[in-house]
Amino acid sequence: MAGLFISFEGIDGVGKSTQADRLGEWLTSKGKEVLRTLEPGGTDLGQEIRNILLHRKGDVAPRAEALLYAADRAHHVATKIRPALNAGKTVITDRYLDSSVAYQGAGRALDANLVRDLSLFAVENLLPNLTVLLDLDAAAALERRSKTGTEPDRLEREKLEFFEAVRDQYLKLAAAEPNRWLVVDARLDVDEIAQIIRDRVSTLLV
Ligand code: TYD
Repeated sequence: MAGLFISFEGIDGVGKSTQADRLGEWLTSKGKEVLRTLEPGGTDLGQEIRNILLHRKGDVAPRAEALLYAADRAHHVATKIRPALNAGKTVITDRYLDSSVAYQGAGRALDANLVRDLSLFAVENLLPNLTVLLDLDAAAALERRSKTGTEPDRLEREKLEFFEAVRDQYLKLAAAEPNRWLVVDARLDVDEIAQIIRDRVSTLLV
C-alpha cells in the first residue's frame, strides 16, 4: 500500500475534526495529496446509514448498531479509502474502527474483541499507520459540547458513564498498541496539539 493512513479518535467534543482539518492542510502544503474523510458517512451509502445511526427515533439494538457502523466502514474502505491509498494519497479519517471498539465494545458492553473482528472483516484487515487519540475526560467533553448549542444526536444523548467507559477503552487500546497510537491531551491549546501531531506524522513521511 503506497499511501499513509491516519485516523483520529476520541469521545464526542474533543476537537477531532479541527485537528484532522489542520493536519490535512499542513500535509497539503507539503505537497501531499490528501483525502480527508469521516465515519460514519464518508460515502453516499454511508450518509444514509449515518442518518439511521444518529437520527433514528426509537431503539437500535446494540448488535444492529455495531453492524450498521461496520457496514458504513466496509463501503467507505472499499470505495474511497483503499483506492486513495493505492493511488499514493494520504488518507485522514475522522473516526475509524477503534470508534466501534470503544463505543460499541465498551459503551454498549458488547465483547470488544468481537466488535474489532467484525470491523476487521468489514475492512479486510486494513489498519491505520497512525491513530491519534485526543484524550479528554467525559465531563469536560460534555461541557464543550453543551457550549456548541447544537442538538445532541442519538449517541450524544448517552450518559456521562457511557462516555467514561468509551474513554477508558480508548486509553486501553492506545496502551496496547503504542506504535500505532499517539495520545494527546485535548486540554492543550489547539496549535500546540496540531504541532504534536505534525511532529509524529513527520516521522512517518518519506
Ligand atoms: P461523529 O461524526 O464524530 O459525530 P459528530 O459529527 O456529531 O461530531 O460520530 C457520530 C457518533 O457515532 C459519535 O457519537 C460516535 C459514534 N460512533 C460509534 O458509536 N461507532 C463508530 O464506529 C463510529 C464511527 C462512530
